[in-house]
Amino acid sequence: RNVDTIVCLDEFEEVAQSILSQMAASYYGTGCRFSLAFPETEQTLRDERESWQRIRFRPRVMRKMRHIDSRTTFLGMPQPVPFFIAPAGLARLGHPDGELNIARGAAAHDVVQVVSSGASASVDEIFGAKSPEQIMFWQFYVPSDRVLAEKKLRHAIELGAMAIFVTADVPVLGKRERDLKLKARSQNYEHPIAAQWKAAGASDWNAVKNRGISDIPDTAHIDANLCWDDIAWIRQRAPGIPIVVKGVGCVEDVELAAQYGADGVVLSTHGGRQLDGARAPIDVLVEVRRRNPALLKQIEVYIDGGVRRGTDVVKALCLGARGVGLGRPILYAQSAYGAAGVSKALQILEEEVQMAMRLLGANTVADLRPEMVEVSSPERW
Ligand code: FNR
Repeated sequence: RNVDTIVCLDEFEEVAQSILSQMAASYYGTGCRFSLAFPETEQTLRDERESWQRIRFRPRVMRKMRHIDSRTTFLGMPQPVPFFIAPAGLARLGHPDGELNIARGAAAHDVVQVVSSGASASVDEIFGAKSPEQIMFWQFYVPSDRVLAEKKLRHAIELGAMAIFVTADVPVLGKRERDLKLKARSQNYEHPIAAQWKAAGASDWNAVKNRGISDIPDTAHIDANLCWDDIAWIRQRAPGIPIVVKGVGCVEDVELAAQYGADGVVLSTHGGRQLDGARAPIDVLVEVRRRNPALLKQIEVYIDGGVRRGTDVVKALCLGARGVGLGRPILYAQSAYGAAGVSKALQILEEEVQMAMRLLGANTVADLRPEMVEVSSPERW
């Protein structure tokens, strides 16, 4: 199928499913907890797709909608659109150019790519592929070995990372059962990023080099003792660089992130891959708005998980999100069509966002207000 025939993000997944290896499809697709015998599994993964439908619009008409401006800022940096590419590992499982496809597609639309610590290309390659003015952020899995942690952090900053997304929801890797099956069959698979760790001087490289995909990144490479005081540790080593805590699941932790001086949070369940049964991030955003709306002015609140439509992006913005991240759609787009697929996906989403704004009666992002949506389960308010 020609990339020009694609009209919505879900179609990239359809095309990708027909070409991806079973291992890649399982790694990309998996949530936590899966069994054929009991189909009601992967609860969080399913819930975050469905959650967007719990929110309906209250559109306004007769508002002069010819001109639409979807620009915003992330952490003070101007953006043409209120969405970004969420960090997702192992893009090369789907296409030989992997993360470089994502970098090139993002450049075509000035969309921020948050470069994953679990990428299958090195940070040098990925940041090396960016155009001079292109904004890239870097996602940080803080290793237990703080000498290595500091080295990785400083290196990403030297390469030009404009913000650090500290992933906080992986004190242990979730039980991703679709993927675990294939891990069993891939004992001798040498993981592409193991070599990078070796190059970065990871002391326990030998312990990880023959692990399956589900074991990577491993607990040795993500400090299970990460805590709020570590924001200051990172801040000291990344002066002037905004810090965003990724993987927050309740209002209390948004409050703590603000108290400890983070610049932003991402409400996220890691794409339903960590704690199965965790609430969909949009429900958490509703909770923040209900319990402590002032927080939305103190700290930038981002959200990801199950976003597939411009209307999803617009709903999140109405409820106070600053920006919305996309994980799997970008992996599928680059698997199916390389950089052209990423570019097409971003174009589709941009057009959908602008169309949704026009139909809703919002000329600018600032016009997207909570009164423009209704959340269908009132107890959630
Ligand atoms: C991820 N995610 C992720 N997050 C992170 O902080 N570091 C990482 O390396 C990865 N890797 C990763 C791989 C794959 C295959 C997936 C699907 C996800 C989580 C990601 O940033 C984001 O939170 C979710 O992907 C958002 O959900 P959707 O858009 O995939 O539904």
